[in-house]
Amino acid sequence: MIKETKKPELAFFETEAWEVEYLKKKLKGFKLRFFDGVVDKKDLKTLNNVGVLSPFIYSKINKDILAALPNLKMITTRSTGFDHVDLKFATAQKIKVCNVPFYGENTVAEHAFALILALSRNIHLSHERTMRGDFRLDCLQGFDLKGKTIGIIGGGHIGQHVARIANGFEMNVLVSDPYRDQKLAKKFKFKYETLENLLKKSDVITLHAPYNKHTHHLINRKNIKLIKPGAILVNTARGGLIDTTALVEALRKGILTGIGLDVLEAEKYVFKEERELVCPQFTGNPRQDKEWLKTIVEQHVLINSERVIVTPHNAFNSREALIRILDTTIENILDWSKNKKLKNQVLIKK
Ligand code: NAI
Repeated sequence: MIKETKKPELAFFETEAWEVEYLKKKLKGFKLRFFDGVVDKKDLKTLNNVGVLSPFIYSKINKDILAALPNLKMITTRSTGFDHVDLKFATAQKIKVCNVPFYGENTVAEHAFALILALSRNIHLSHERTMRGDFRLDCLQGFDLKGKTIGIIGGGHIGQHVARIANGFEMNVLVSDPYRDQKLAKKFKFKYETLENLLKKSDVITLHAPYNKHTHHLINRKNIKLIKPGAILVNTARGGLIDTTALVEALRKGILTGIGLDVLEAEKYVFKEERELVCPQFTGNPRQDKEWLKTIVEQHVLINSERVIVTPHNAFNSREALIRILDTTIENILDWSKNKKLKNQVLIKK
């Protein structure tokens, strides 16, 4: 066994009781701290000795937090997405950032398909109706996936699994991605398209791109008009990929007949761990605050629409995936503590 060289204090945030037990068993010898909630400014004073921080996605690891942790050497987020971590600042401070790149490709793809099938066959409406003892069929007619075109925005790990599942349904598969790999296209039987053409041709659109400054409002008021009328759209990636105003408009105009959202643009105001409504924090910039409030109101319009299915950022949440997340996080920490190369280090793209 390789001798461990670093044994710093590790702080895990947003943890559940079973995760605490699992991590304690696997990380014997480390000083472990566990917090149910997100990283909070009020806890910072007690985190002086923390060398490794492991948040989930609701902790905003921003400049203020990073600057207040003098001994922090590593952040290992228990998620694939890392847009909640200020990577630039962390890198400048020589703090290594790792993620869990692979835990959930099938898991999230399966959830995307759960939403697609629920929308295409009106499962949510049928369930709600039969619960009331109403067994009528009117307005419950769905459509077949066989022979339809699915447009996958982001052909990475999750997108490829979506393509694999779509092949099983005998759908035509289109992918838009700035990086094209014809070998992948052959393997998963899809065709690359520009985003514009994908929007025009797809009956089902599903998003699997990362959220960053280049992908902010990738679907917006301008290009949402290109969508084939009557299509359905599913987003299990990040809320900020779609302008909420554009979604509401597309629904009102019948461009989209169904929407499945596991993520919302202002989800932190509805999807807190406690599942309570949280008051928005105003920035003091009237224009920005007005936009933010508008987004919050509009996302409630979506949540309350019977043509929209919202799940609470739950796509990753399968038993098998959660164990994989912890195992990879443990591996990241052990590799770092043994000065090994970090397989899952997130680097700034030049
Ligand atoms: P990945 O990094 O393997 O794939 C992302 C793909 O998107 C890459 O092929 C990349 O080239 C492509 N891409 C980048 N910019 C694009 C653009 N402008 N248009 C189209 N494609 C673009 O990531 P993976 O594992 O497939 O995950 C995708 C996203 O799913 C993550 O970034 C994360 O935000 C989200 N996610 C959501 C979860 C949930 O519970 N709802 C769980 C796990 C991930």
